[in-house]
Amino acid sequence: MPPEPAPSPEPRTAVSRMQPYDWEPPSASIARQAGVPEDQVVRFDTNTFPWPGATLDQLPPQPLNEYPDTSYRDLTDAIAQYTDVPPDRITVGAGADEVLDMIAKAYIDGSRGVLLSRPTYPMFQILSGMAGGMLDEVPAIDLRLDRATFLERARRADLTWICNPNNPTGELLPLSFVEEVASVAGGVLAVDEAYVETSGVTAVPLIDRMANLVVIRTLSKAFGLAGVRVGYALAGPAISAVLRRVRPPGSIGVVSAALGAQALRDLRGMRQRVQQVVEERARLQRELASAGLEVRDSAANFLLARTGRQVAPRLLEQGLVVRTFPPTSPLADYIRITVRRPEENARLLKALKAALSPTGSP
Ligand SMILES: Cc1ncc(COP(=O)(O)O)c(C=O)c1O
Repeated sequence: MPPEPAPSPEPRTAVSRMQPYDWEPPSASIARQAGVPEDQVVRFDTNTFPWPGATLDQLPPQPLNEYPDTSYRDLTDAIAQYTDVPPDRITVGAGADEVLDMIAKAYIDGSRGVLLSRPTYPMFQILSGMAGGMLDEVPAIDLRLDRATFLERARRADLTWICNPNNPTGELLPLSFVEEVASVAGGVLAVDEAYVETSGVTAVPLIDRMANLVVIRTLSKAFGLAGVRVGYALAGPAISAVLRRVRPPGSIGVVSAALGAQALRDLRGMRQRVQQVVEERARLQRELASAGLEVRDSAANFLLARTGRQVAPRLLEQGLVVRTFPPTSPLADYIRITVRRPEENARLLKALKAALSPTGSP
């Protein structure tokens, strides 16, 4: 008799229950599906910048046979210079996502309440669910944060997540509101500022006064290093010490740490890129509006436009990938468009106008 198959091991309940991240498909499979060459695929769905903030040829030879300096001294010093926050208040991670995970690991368990808005950055829900937290979600009103309800519920939450500006709506909350949430919150307030370089609004000056505040940043957006995986947290001494306890010792590779430090030392370059994206964002918003679409104001490097559900598949046929949302989402009729190079945005606009026109021509 063949042996009984071994029962498959069950993961933790929180892991079976969570809704995993809906990963963006790779460009190669989009190209195959759309029947276009891979170099014709343009990613308007990942909210990255179209130019890298540092390149490998700028680096001196790296000690690839050795582990990274686990204190990440050089990278941390570069972040300190950029943010004007001392190194002992900086915790680095392999992308902002790893930093968010450290926060969830440190502050969430099955007995703790977690507050977030909807829609917001999906990783808040995923990481909080995985850590076993009790989730409390405040639905947006007309895609804007319901501030009164959020403030009220923050009083009871052990951890509150805010994304500012918010992905995917682009909404920017004023610093006064963030401060108000921090001052009433029953626990930690985590503010994800992945898009701070385009918004110009930061809660960092508050971390000295507000011991429950942690700000999360990334080099994946304005610094143009999404493939490199560097993010960081800025917080007062208490939260920083806790994050250091949970931080994996060497998750940022030596090449990534060196590229991150290199990009942080070219602030002029970063600011020029931000300026270009902000100008392009205004142009794209005007053009989308003049094509008759509802477009939300955005403080980030993307725009949310109400196109209905027919447009995204038409764009995809030409290799133009925008972010869509599930039919159950309040954003089901919207697409999120990353602002890219002028010529790429022009290509998108032309295809979009054609997709909107009854005759199919722009
Ligand atoms: C709000 C927000 N936080 C974090 C991330 C992920 O950042 P990282 O690439 O540093 O993990 C993203 C990426 O889109 C984001 O939109």
